[in-house]
Amino acid sequence: MSIQLNASVTWVGKKDWELREFHGVEYSTHRGSSYNSYLVRDEKVALIDTVWQPFAKEFVANLKKEIDLNEIDYIIANHSEIDHSGALPELMREIPNTPIYCTRNGARALKGHYHQNWNFVEVKTGDRLSLGKKELLFIEARMLHWPDSMFCYLTEDNILFSNDAFGQHYATEFLFNDEVDQAELYQEAVKYYANILTPFSSLVEKKINEFIGLNLPLSMICTSHGILWRDNPVQIVEQYMKWAQDYQEDQITLIYDTMWNGTRRMAEAIASGIKMVSPETAVKLFNVGRSDKNDVITEVFKSKAILVGSPTINRGILTSIAAILEEIRGLEFRNKKAAAFGCYGWSGESVKMIGRLLTECGMELMDDGIRALWNPDEDSIAQCVEFGKQIAAAAR
Ligand code: FEO
Repeated sequence: MSIQLNASVTWVGKKDWELREFHGVEYSTHRGSSYNSYLVRDEKVALIDTVWQPFAKEFVANLKKEIDLNEIDYIIANHSEIDHSGALPELMREIPNTPIYCTRNGARALKGHYHQNWNFVEVKTGDRLSLGKKELLFIEARMLHWPDSMFCYLTEDNILFSNDAFGQHYATEFLFNDEVDQAELYQEAVKYYANILTPFSSLVEKKINEFIGLNLPLSMICTSHGILWRDNPVQIVEQYMKWAQDYQEDQITLIYDTMWNGTRRMAEAIASGIKMVSPETAVKLFNVGRSDKNDVITEVFKSKAILVGSPTINRGILTSIAAILEEIRGLEFRNKKAAAFGCYGWSGESVKMIGRLLTECGMELMDDGIRALWNPDEDSIAQCVEFGKQIAAAAR
């Protein structure tokens, strides 16, 4: 299937409705994904990116229906990761001498993945490739999100091919942002940012400012995953700027795991205390052992404060809590306050341990945390409600 975007650009990608896990099992894709590839026709013809390897044969077969492969003059590899470069071996068997334009790091990575000495042409920011009446302008986007990542911009049509940036893992029957459910689109876009891009937020801000400084008109942003931004494409750029700048909403998220429901009851009591003092604040609870990790991470990203709870086990914490805190540490969220809670039977180390881990995550502890002996009695529950009230005030 191909879809004509305008007189010169055709979408030749693949929608992957079945995908439920990405990056191994690191990223849940409840709504599938797509691998967007584009054919740009002028006096010369350029192919921008390909698709994930399992769809390589299908991709090349469909491309042959769209164009004689020998008419492709240039291949642009904006990013070497397999979901975009995976069809290159299949394609290059057919047109082995076609030059592949990519960054220096891109050439290294593509050689590392495929061990082929293809005709790489290394480009850097500001380099241009003439297609005839139009040009492709290359803009390196190092660490957004790999060292090789790159954007390219089609002059005259004013289209930015942004690769992973501004994308979403989101398969729909549509192609453009104005055609889809806006709440679904926002949720997939923020999940993508929170789970993949937050460690690079300072670079996101810098890159966007650099792009704005180029004063290039923007009619469309063609991502490599999910829908393309044609209706007010600047909106996602502005949203990225907000997400990159210590983002938070008026939300407090409680994440916990529980053995015999004591820590769960503490979480619910704390949440009710927060609501008493701060009814306008969104309060969300997740049993991490029963929740999708990436959805929880997304809610943590949106929060001004998080509370983390685990009972004590073997002088430590439940593995589900240890795992998600490790994930949060790596994502380097900024501008978050935090506190710990949990039940215990005898030694009771969990709250102190969680507090230490939250500090390592770069979060500001609002309190030493709260513990409850065995399953909390009415007094303990009342103390948790009071704790919630204090947290609501401290998180303001
Ligand atoms: Fe969609 Fe970094 O690959």
